[in-house]
Amino acid sequence: MTHHHHYHVIEGNNPPLLLLHGTGADEFDLIPLAQDIAPGSAIFSVRGNVSENGQNRYFKRTAEGVFDHEDLIRRTHELAKFIAETAPQHGMDPAQMIALGFSNGANIASSLFFLHPELLAGGILLRGMVPFMPTQTPDLASKKILLLSGIMDPIIPMDNARKLASIYQAGQADIIHTTFPTGHGLTQNDVLEAKQWFLNLVQE
Ligand code: MLT
Repeated sequence: MTHHHHYHVIEGNNPPLLLLHGTGADEFDLIPLAQDIAPGSAIFSVRGNVSENGQNRYFKRTAEGVFDHEDLIRRTHELAKFIAETAPQHGMDPAQMIALGFSNGANIASSLFFLHPELLAGGILLRGMVPFMPTQTPDLASKKILLLSGIMDPIIPMDNARKLASIYQAGQADIIHTTFPTGHGLTQNDVLEAKQWFLNLVQE
């Protein structure tokens, strides 16, 4: 299974970013945000290959927040394989990559961490929720995760976002969960927080 994707190579040691867009967007949507957060990073951006009434997504759902579990699992494995095979062709090592996912993209990123914990180095999860409850606690030790949630998000109840953070904590990930007094859309606070987190990461 292949994916439309876009990549942008930058020489240097900064971790590459894996961009995963929200419902209805495409592989170009998060590029300005990525360049703002991590100007020195190469970019590998993948378009979701599920169409929901013409809107790109990474997996099927039956209603808002109600996911088609079987489809989610299958597409997570397919995406992991695609990244593992294709990113190195562009000179990027998936094991160094930081996912930058918004909404549906943050959710497939968490599914990647739960099912393929060895694949990526970490992630910036913008408005993420629990994609599914893992049957066993995934080994997420050394994964760097920044989860940014909106307290007034009508799509993601705070309990759900906190539950997501607790799964990463149980897996021993190095997670920071920050909440903002806002909704599902991103704000300047998200950008500033993500920028600072990324700067700390590369300076470690
Ligand atoms: C999802 O379907 O992954 C979430 O409900 C967020 C979204 O609307 O994409």
